[in-house]
Amino acid sequence: MPSANRPTEESLQKKAERFRAEIKSFPVCLVTGGAGYIGSHTVLELLNAGVAVVVIDNLCNSHMESLCRVHYIARTESQRLQQNGNVPPIFFHQVDIRSTKSMNQVFDFWQSDKIHAERAVFPVSVGEVSANKAYPMLDYTLNPAKRAQTSPQTKDPSTWGRITAVIHFAALKAVGESITKPLEYYENNVAALVVLLKAMKAHAVNVLIFSSSAVVYGVGHEAGITEETVQVAGKGSGGGLLTNPYGRSKWMSEEIINDYCVADPNFHAISLRYFNPTGSHPSGLIGEDPKGTPNNIVPVILQAYQRRRSRVHVFGSNYDTSDGTGVRDYIHVSDLAMGHLAALRKATKQPDPVPEGEEIDGQDPVSNYNVYNLGTGRGYSVLEIIKAFSNAAGTAIPFTVGEARAGDLGTVTASPDKAASDLDWRAEFDLQDMCRDVFNWAAANPTGYETLRRLSTMSGMSSQEMRRQSVATGLFDREEDFDNFISTSLNSIDNNNASKDGSGRRMSQHGANFSNMLKKMRSASHSSAVSDSDNPFGGNYALSSSPGPGAGGAPRFAMTWGEPHKTATIAEGEEEDEDVDLGPTLSPSTSKTLPMRSR
Ligand code: NAD
Ligand code: UD1
Repeated sequence: MPSANRPTEESLQKKAERFRAEIKSFPVCLVTGGAGYIGSHTVLELLNAGVAVVVIDNLCNSHMESLCRVHYIARTESQRLQQNGNVPPIFFHQVDIRSTKSMNQVFDFWQSDKIHAERAVFPVSVGEVSANKAYPMLDYTLNPAKRAQTSPQTKDPSTWGRITAVIHFAALKAVGESITKPLEYYENNVAALVVLLKAMKAHAVNVLIFSSSAVVYGVGHEAGITEETVQVAGKGSGGGLLTNPYGRSKWMSEEIINDYCVADPNFHAISLRYFNPTGSHPSGLIGEDPKGTPNNIVPVILQAYQRRRSRVHVFGSNYDTSDGTGVRDYIHVSDLAMGHLAALRKATKQPDPVPEGEEIDGQDPVSNYNVYNLGTGRGYSVLEIIKAFSNAAGTAIPFTVGEARAGDLGTVTASPDKAASDLDWRAEFDLQDMCRDVFNWAAANPTGYETLRRLSTMSGMSSQEMRRQSVATGLFDREEDFDNFISTSLNSIDNNNASKDGSGRRMSQHGANFSNMLKKMRSASHSSAVSDSDNPFGGNYALSSSPGPGAGGAPRFAMTWGEPHKTATIAEGEEEDEDVDLGPTLSPSTSKTLPMRSR
């Protein structure tokens, strides 16, 4: 018997029609893993380019909060550019890409207007959720002309409102973990790719951009790696030069996509091999939020800076490099995101379809499949990276030099030339930008998207209990780190507010309210208890809207977090209908148009 709370078929139908109407005036791209680090940055650039996005993510390594912030940034950028805030929608499905049934249901929903009885895949409108939240003031630079140039093909309105392309990010990505859990890696990264390709085929979606990695080059290839090199690492020896299951899963995925492109000349795919992604969107609102203990150098440096670990261990100093430490090609995640738009532009610029059974005369049968490196072509050693971050932080980040890490190479840098000539794409951000943006993100989100939410659950506790809980809940390793975090974050916000980088660009200022909260927490941690009126998070741990510092009391965006979101899927018996509010009812303290700076 249906529960009284369950949404009726009619209410779901009404809502589905509203969602479809909302998406109709835009080209639509499906993004798997869109809530993750690189995915969220790419979703933002898609919105900026006028593309609506359907995100599929099971949130195993991410938070839906990232998408709420993405939509908010896009709306703010749109206002700033006087585009009347007309931002394409994001729809979110909390779905596992390994499930053939769910994947087909998502495609059915958007491609054939079908609503399935299970309703598990009914989308959530992210704009609706995020409109109910307010975030700190955004203060960063952007280049609207460049964005217009890199828009994918959006000219054919007959395809609008339907998914025409997929960007596939969803995967597991920890090299070390892949050695202990190979089956999980092959299931998520390889088997799920086949599920996706079959669902695309069944719904006539013919464009795929795939997240690959420089890891497919394996060992034995160093500076200025070109795309052809993988023929040796992969095919030449059956992937034998790849040292771990993660690497092999990416190599196998590329082979599968290549084979499928051979079999279906109307299918167009591009694999993008990322070098070392880092940085965050210059707003500092979205960024990398690694779960568990990070292994990559930048999150490690950040933890040393935040005093969440004592120092950086530099792996090896006897490589054939300028200072003996490993050299890598670090690329800003926003550049990487733009690389996806450039790839999408190329892949959607298709020749006329080849009729079934007809020979492809004089045409390379796999010209519908391409691979590109996404890197800068410029390498930095570990010591150079530590120095750059120390300069940006205004404090020396401690390190020791030790043994090399097994399987590491001396120099790994890309040749970015093929992407430059075919895709008209080159990285624009430099190392200084990457450092600045990592700190922008970390200053307000020192332990990622969950920081404030998790700290807030401790409001009202005594100082001792807060310190204990911060360790018990895994937010910090030691109680001293809780105190350190508060004072370091305050310092870093003060530094950010005061400093200007080499080009005179101002650091993000959105730490204002955060800073106030931390100050209150610091005094709270020195007093015996936090009274309700002192509670830095307010009644429901929202920060109140307060005048910005030094702004003569001018209103700013309040940093307001409100209550946790409703779950993105509709569980049995749960009400989810027209009148259901998907988020807290809070409005921005102001919707001022922000000043624009040129980059
Ligand atoms: P991420 O973990 O932040 O993002 C991956 C997203 O996929 C997450 O949101 C996760 O919840 C989701 N996901 C994972 N398995 C899923 C499943 N079965 N069903 C649905 N969703 C699932 O990682 P990222 O750094 O953004 O990486 C994105 C892609 O880029 C991955 O394919 C990764 O292998 C590749 N890549 C990343 C790097 C890097 O350094 N970050 C380098 C090279 C390649
Ligand atoms: C790693 C992955 C690679 C993945 C890439 C993307 C391995 C073996 N490879 O590559 O598959 O595509 O990340 O982000 O894990 N370093 C230190 N101390 C540390 C951590 C790293 O000195 O604590 C050094 C490394 O030796 C290397 C450089 O920093 O020289 C960069 O390391 P890392 O960030 O782990 O990236 P990669 O090794 O290039």
